[in-house]
Amino acid sequence: MSKEKLVQLLDEVTDLPTLPTVYVKINSLLQSSQANAARVARIVEADQAIATKVLRLVNSSYFGLSRQVTQINQAVVLLGFNAIRSVVLSVSVFESFKGDGNTRFDRREFWKHAIATGVIARRLAKDLRIGAEEDAFSGGILHDVGKLVLDQVLPSEFNAILEYVDQNGCSIIEAEHRILGTDHCEVGEYLLEKWNLPPLLIECVALHHSPAIFRSNPQMVSVIHLADIFARRLHIGSGGDNMIPTPDPFALDELEIDMDDFLAEEENIQTVLEQSQDMLALVG
Ligand SMILES: [Fe+2]
Ligand SMILES: [Fe+2]
Repeated sequence: MSKEKLVQLLDEVTDLPTLPTVYVKINSLLQSSQANAARVARIVEADQAIATKVLRLVNSSYFGLSRQVTQINQAVVLLGFNAIRSVVLSVSVFESFKGDGNTRFDRREFWKHAIATGVIARRLAKDLRIGAEEDAFSGGILHDVGKLVLDQVLPSEFNAILEYVDQNGCSIIEAEHRILGTDHCEVGEYLLEKWNLPPLLIECVALHHSPAIFRSNPQMVSVIHLADIFARRLHIGSGGDNMIPTPDPFALDELEIDMDDFLAEEENIQTVLEQSQDMLALVG
């Protein structure tokens, strides 16, 4: 299926999940000169389901705050605008894809993989000093979201893809190309464009398997690419197949690390992952 065909097909789908409006509202507020903690908090509090989950995530051991936060306003002050924005995006995506889906695809294992990739990407962005750590987190959480779209709106095709993976022991992306002629990267890109998410996140989702064809941020795309592989190497959750790809040499080059550095990073990552376990309680 060509990209045009895919777009045409998905345009006709009526049950494509929507993103709660909180994130887009916060994003535009932060881009204006009017942002302050109280305003950000008001937007979040207007959506009760999101607000509750934001507080739970902020109080998870991952953020390691020394005291319990009970007000969104406090959370904004303690964590900052960028972190709150990325927390809001994460819980919004969890909300958009609540439930078990329409195929035998295991969403719980999927979310484990997505959360691990987000946590690892944030850590890599920090350790490698490439900045935009919160975007790395969001990019990691979202990177495989195209699989959820397939699970939700094209269940018979996605079942055939899962079957193909089982029968051939191949990667899910290879099966997607065989069965659909497209892949979860393009499907994810479609969704993020629909959702009006920023170009950097779209780039992370579209190119996490092919960082060398980056558009504007080769380092961030490379971080997501490596974080995905780390999550797979550490067997945290599942992205729908059991393959462990080797890192694209472009990504290592771009981040100025070699294979030894890559392997050494694995230990740092183990500890942050332990702290992120309780995030899983927020999905489903
Ligand atoms: Fe992927
Ligand atoms: Fe993945």
